[in-house]
Amino acid sequence: MTNASLDQLVSLCKRRGFVYPGSEIYGGLANTWDYGPLGVELKNNIKQLWWKEFVRKRTDMVGLDAAILMNPKAWEASGHVGNFADPLVDCKACKQRFRGDKLIEEKLGVEAAAILKLEQVEPMLTAEKITCPNCGKLDWAPAKKFNLMFKTQQGVIEGEGTDIYLRPETAQGIFVNFKNVAMTSRMRLPFGVAQIGKAFRNEITPGNFTFRTREFEQMEIEYFFDPEATPWEGIFETWKKDTWSFLTETLGIKAENLRFRDHEKDELSHYSKGTTDVEYKFPWGWGELCAAAAYRTDFDLTQHQTFSGEDMQYSDPDDQTRKIIPHVMEPSFGADRITLAVMLDAYDEESLGGARDDSGKEDTRTVMHFAAKVAPMKIAILPLSKKEHLVAKSKEIHAMLVEQLDANVDFDVTGSIGKRYRRQDEIGTPKCVTVDFGTLGEDPAQGETDTVTVRDRDTQQQVRMKISELAEYLRV
Ligand code: GAP
Repeated sequence: MTNASLDQLVSLCKRRGFVYPGSEIYGGLANTWDYGPLGVELKNNIKQLWWKEFVRKRTDMVGLDAAILMNPKAWEASGHVGNFADPLVDCKACKQRFRGDKLIEEKLGVEAAAILKLEQVEPMLTAEKITCPNCGKLDWAPAKKFNLMFKTQQGVIEGEGTDIYLRPETAQGIFVNFKNVAMTSRMRLPFGVAQIGKAFRNEITPGNFTFRTREFEQMEIEYFFDPEATPWEGIFETWKKDTWSFLTETLGIKAENLRFRDHEKDELSHYSKGTTDVEYKFPWGWGELCAAAAYRTDFDLTQHQTFSGEDMQYSDPDDQTRKIIPHVMEPSFGADRITLAVMLDAYDEESLGGARDDSGKEDTRTVMHFAAKVAPMKIAILPLSKKEHLVAKSKEIHAMLVEQLDANVDFDVTGSIGKRYRRQDEIGTPKCVTVDFGTLGEDPAQGETDTVTVRDRDTQQQVRMKISELAEYLRV
């Protein structure tokens, strides 16, 4: 297995329609990305698998889809207006701006950067001789707090509208709806609410493809519990285990490329008593993939109770005299970041055992070893030739599989069969079905009537089977 470089992956993504640079015909808009036909299928599969795992399969979870725009008071209550800021440093020589902690992290590692106070950033950059990535000078201004929320205006008269924010996390939409959900769905503690949706952060230094962008999608869970009935430590460990198994077993990310990292005390968010991230071994080093569990205590519900004046307490159904503000455990996943990790993890360039291509170069194939459930295309139907009656039979099989499997099935009739296999390998299609003249009963040497050849992406082995058995064999 080769580990993909970021350039290799970015190039494949563009070439094959996974991810394109945003607004490309206008020269782009820095760090925006658009998912193409295969990318949207891949990301949708990941979101659907997440929803199935954490909502549908469980009786203690329900879903929500809250608005992106919220009353600005919600962001005062959550602490984002006051605290959601990164340390911004100006290079006095070239006037470029950077995230000071990230420059330190690149040189000294995540642990060193995570515990820095604002006033320590510039002295540390200077002491460690960390120069400006743009001009190479060592001339930093003291770090300033830079709030990451995007501000906009609601209202039809320019300048007279109310200032509102694009949400920087989906979590707050869940907290403000806690009472609605608890009452209408009759959930008893402990229970969780899940939500998938866009979030926006005016990141100082976005980059590394879709790893850090200003617009991204989150998949978040707020799991409410009574700390007297269920101590937080047990819930914390369970969510760590469930997150790990989702990443490795459901999505198929290799365990050796993942690790847990506990947040240092000084690094914890303003609301958290304990947080463990899962990190992925990205081409540039270990980086945060998702938060497996963050113990937010009763911070959020208490804040919303104070700021809104609404009672956020939960009445114990077995003892109506007991009212509590539930505590919260939060696993938080970035859908784009996980999609990126899944693609990097699946990427491989394999030698084809010394075979040579037409120009005499050793033949290799690029193959995306996606788990079958995650793969954007599950099957490709490949008629051996463009002859009309063979294409017609192939289309019949295509329609049958789409109907019976409710899956994405590709249809490719152009180029040699070898080239078509390579194309499907490159987009990670687990199985290719070749329809030939044996299938039509016209050439017994190719196979029996009403049989086809199924080729496996990973082993490249081929089996001949009856059309009537295909759907069951190909079901994932
Ligand atoms: N509600 C908690 C919260 O938002 P976070 O660690 O700031 O926590 C959770 O974000 C996840 O969202 C991250 O682990 C990452 O996967 C994703 N994420 C955060 N900022 C991102 C960005 N700028 N671009 C892409 N994904 C991002």
